[in-house]
Amino acid sequence: MRLQSMLFGLIVLGLSQGALAQQPVVIKFSHVVATETPKGKAAEFFRKRAEELTGGKVKVEVYPNSQLYKDKEEMEALQLGAVQMLAPSLAKFGPLGVKELEVFDLPFIFDNYAELHRVTQGPIGAGILKKLEPKGIVGLAFWDNGFKSFSANTPIKVPADLKGKKLRIQSSKVLEEQMQALGALPQVMAFSEAYQALQTGVVDGTENPHSNMYSQKMHEVQKYMALTEHGYLGYAVIVNRKFWDGLPADVRGQLEVAMKESTAYANRIAKEENDASLENIRKSGKTQIYVPTPEERLAFKKALVPVHQKMESRIGAQTIADIYKETAFDPSKL
Ligand code: LMR
Repeated sequence: MRLQSMLFGLIVLGLSQGALAQQPVVIKFSHVVATETPKGKAAEFFRKRAEELTGGKVKVEVYPNSQLYKDKEEMEALQLGAVQMLAPSLAKFGPLGVKELEVFDLPFIFDNYAELHRVTQGPIGAGILKKLEPKGIVGLAFWDNGFKSFSANTPIKVPADLKGKKLRIQSSKVLEEQMQALGALPQVMAFSEAYQALQTGVVDGTENPHSNMYSQKMHEVQKYMALTEHGYLGYAVIVNRKFWDGLPADVRGQLEVAMKESTAYANRIAKEENDASLENIRKSGKTQIYVPTPEERLAFKKALVPVHQKMESRIGAQTIADIYKETAFDPSKL
C-alpha cells in the first residue's frame, strides 16, 4: 500500500513537472505611455513577434500607461525581478548611476534622426548600453520617440518667453540645467502626473514630443506650443540580466530577433506617429502651434548649447566628444 501511494505520488509529481515544463516564460513589460504612441506600438509589436517566434514558449504581458508602475518604481521593479522588461526614457537612468545615457538629453546635440541613428545604431550606442551590465541590466536596443516642443499657456517664440515659468521635466539633471539656462523653474514629476499638474496650474508648461503631448491630452490644457525641436526623447529597452541570462539559448536568440524587428519598426514609425499627433493637435484647435523662425530657433540654440559644457563632468567629456565627432557638431561655430 505504501509502495503504491509512493508510486502514485511520483507519477503525480512527474505529471506536474511535465506541465510546468510547458508553462510559457512570462515577460512582464511595463511602460508609462499610451498604447497609441511609438513606444506603445513597438511594445505591442514585440509582444506579437516574441510569441510567434518562440512558438508560444514566451508570453509577453504589456502594461502601458503607468498601469503597473510609475517612472521611478518601474526601475526598482526591474532590478527586483518583479517585471522583466522596460523601455524607460534615456532621461531616467541617472539614479542607476549610468550618467552616459544622459548625453541624449543635451539640448541640440542632434539636429535630426539621421544624426541620432549614427550614434544609437552604431558603436557609441552599443558602448553606452554595455555600461548597464554591472547594474544587473542588459540594454537590448534604442527605440526612438522624437524631438521635443515646448508648451505653455503663454506664447513661446524666444527663450525669454519661458523665463520664470514652472516647467515639468523628467527626472534628469541635464534637463534641470537646460531649463535653468532659460531662466525657467524646472519641476521634476512622474509622467503620469504631468497632465494634472498642467491642468491645475501646478506647472505652467512642459516639453515633450507630440505623440506624448497628444496621447496624454496635454494640448487640451496648454494654449501654446513652439516647434523648437530643441532636444531628443528616446528609450533604452532593458531587461533584468539574471532573467535574460537564465533563458534557454534558443529562446534568447528568438527574442533577440523579435527585438531587432521591433527596433526597426519603432524607429520607422516614430516620426510618422509624431507628425500625425501634431496634426491632431492642430485639428483640435485647442493649442496654437508656432514654428519659430530660423533666427528664433538659433536664439534657443545659443542659450542652450552651453549646457553641454556645464554637464561635461557629469556625463563624461569623452562621450560628448565622441558624439560631436560622429555628427560633425562644433559648438564653437554657433
Ligand atoms: C516623460 O516622462 O515625459 C517621458 O519619458 C514619457 C515616456 O516614456 O515617453
